[in-house]
Amino acid sequence: MAILTILQYPDKRLHTIAKPVPTVTAEIRQLVRDLAETMYAAPGIGLAATQVDVHQQVIVLDISTTQDQLQVFINPQIILSSGESECEEGCLSVPDVYEKVRRAERVTVRALNEQGKVFMLEAQGMLATCIQHEIDHLKGRVFVEYLSMLKQTRLKAKIKKQLRQLA
Ligand code: NI
Repeated sequence: MAILTILQYPDKRLHTIAKPVPTVTAEIRQLVRDLAETMYAAPGIGLAATQVDVHQQVIVLDISTTQDQLQVFINPQIILSSGESECEEGCLSVPDVYEKVRRAERVTVRALNEQGKVFMLEAQGMLATCIQHEIDHLKGRVFVEYLSMLKQTRLKAKIKKQLRQLA
């Protein structure tokens, strides 16, 4: 296993659109293990392959407080969504930023598991939010893009300033 480097917003590679996984191979299962290890080490509750500069449709999640309930979604697709909810979100690619985002309250997702088997999952609340957030990553979208242009401009200025201070 390996801890991978997480791309940091506004890295342009975060806008890459991930390709579907044609077959769940040993290599993909290795990617899943590395994603999980990277997410747990961060620590975080979700990570998409896009965030480690691998542009294949793979996400891992663990919203349990015990951090021992790994959920793996390969080629995830939201096939049903309903309701509306607004939750505060954060992202390992945008450290120290927490903002409210409006999303569907409930989603039904279809994906492949690590064995390449199709499964369906109905999610609501925090799990639904996380699934939508991570699937967005696979589409090249970072949650801060839902914020107003003013907030995005301020955020970019703040990050530039932090980078200058680090340099
Ligand atoms: Ni994220």
